[in-house]
Amino acid sequence: MIQRPRGTRDLLPEDMARRRSVEKVMLDTALRFGFGEVCTPMFEELELFTMKSGQGVIGEIYNFKDKGGRDLALRPELTAAVIRLYANNMQDAPKPIKVFYFGECFRYERPQKGRYREFRQFGAEIIGGDEVATNIEIVSLALEIISGLGLKGQGIRIGFLDILRILFEEIGVGRNDQGPFMTLIDKGDLDGLAKLFEERGLIGQVTDIILKVAATKGKEVIQKARDLLRDRSKCLDALDKLEAILNGIRSSALPGTEDVEVDLGIARGLDYYSGMVFEVDISDLGAEKQVCGGGAYALTELFGLEATNSTGFAMGVDRLILAIEQQGILGPMKGPTAYVIPFKGTEERAREVVSELRSAGVPTDLDLSGRSLSKNLKYAASIRALFAIILGQKELEKGVVTVRDLDSGDQTEVPLGDIIGYFKDK
Ligand code: HAM
Repeated sequence: MIQRPRGTRDLLPEDMARRRSVEKVMLDTALRFGFGEVCTPMFEELELFTMKSGQGVIGEIYNFKDKGGRDLALRPELTAAVIRLYANNMQDAPKPIKVFYFGECFRYERPQKGRYREFRQFGAEIIGGDEVATNIEIVSLALEIISGLGLKGQGIRIGFLDILRILFEEIGVGRNDQGPFMTLIDKGDLDGLAKLFEERGLIGQVTDIILKVAATKGKEVIQKARDLLRDRSKCLDALDKLEAILNGIRSSALPGTEDVEVDLGIARGLDYYSGMVFEVDISDLGAEKQVCGGGAYALTELFGLEATNSTGFAMGVDRLILAIEQQGILGPMKGPTAYVIPFKGTEERAREVVSELRSAGVPTDLDLSGRSLSKNLKYAASIRALFAIILGQKELEKGVVTVRDLDSGDQTEVPLGDIIGYFKDK
């Protein structure tokens, strides 16, 4: 039998119900924060993803030639696409531009629990505006969504990537050569980083500072970082901005903001970040615990546009659902409120009852198989219906239906004319 491709998943009604309820929180929160929704294609010109990251990124993505010989790629993420959308359609729109999106992403990953080749992201981006204010807004949106989902035990870390980038420039490692160093920092492999410095003959006072900065984590470490970076005015400016962003987030009094930690070792996996960066982990998830990541980035210049502050984040919808399942936040999926069981000769009236209930907004299902009463009751329980409505000849003659509570087994007769009223508040 044909199976689905490796690293992909099929979602059953119960899975989709969970996804819808998670995405409803995201949608409502983003709208409440004044963001507007955008949608971009699932495939883009391959160049959109290579122009910043280089040809090396091709190993990590799904790319192909179409029948016209064009080089295309399934998108691995949406930030570059949103900036393309901005360059194509929204350059003249008043700034800041605040947008959000839902979309499938594709990465040629080694699949494991929580890491897929096709996965879904919710994300938000702000283009333009003041650097500190927009970063406070973007982190606040992410935290509001996570707390709105009812999740517990999340670690929120926030850093400022420019500090490491400035120090790398100081030792002669330019912006485009920082990749291998950043990958090690991203993995938290500081021994590997020290080894790489050694291999490249980069040992010295500044590499020591880089190693110390990359290990600077905790709640009250900004002063420590200031001491470490004294005399470097650009780094001190960056720390001032980070402190202002932190104070802004903390003063929003959102639940969880008291737990936000500084982590100057956040390097992020993608190449385009420059200023503030942040990540949210949920430790219950094990190896693939990062549910959200983002930060400030510079991409508009790649489209020949002037440099514009931009910042954003994306959340892994699938990972958040795993966390929600693990923490038992969403109960089992609810079935229809009513399941209508007709008998020979009452089918027509039963269908009318179904239509009336559906028109009144009561989720209603009905027997489509002509089964016996006992089989129908079993089936209704299996689809988690709350009540069965039994309409036999006897009931029809009396002008009633028998309503059976499928949980308790209690039965009552309800006049045909009162059914809507009876189910209104169920
Ligand atoms: P990212 O960290 O690569 O950032 O992905 C964001 C989130 O997508 C991750 O935190 C994770 O929850 C989820 N995710 C990533 N890869 C997978 C996978 N293979 N399977 C399941 N979930 C995954 C970005 O994509 C940036 N575009 C975020 C951003 C927006 N930065 C600025 N604006």
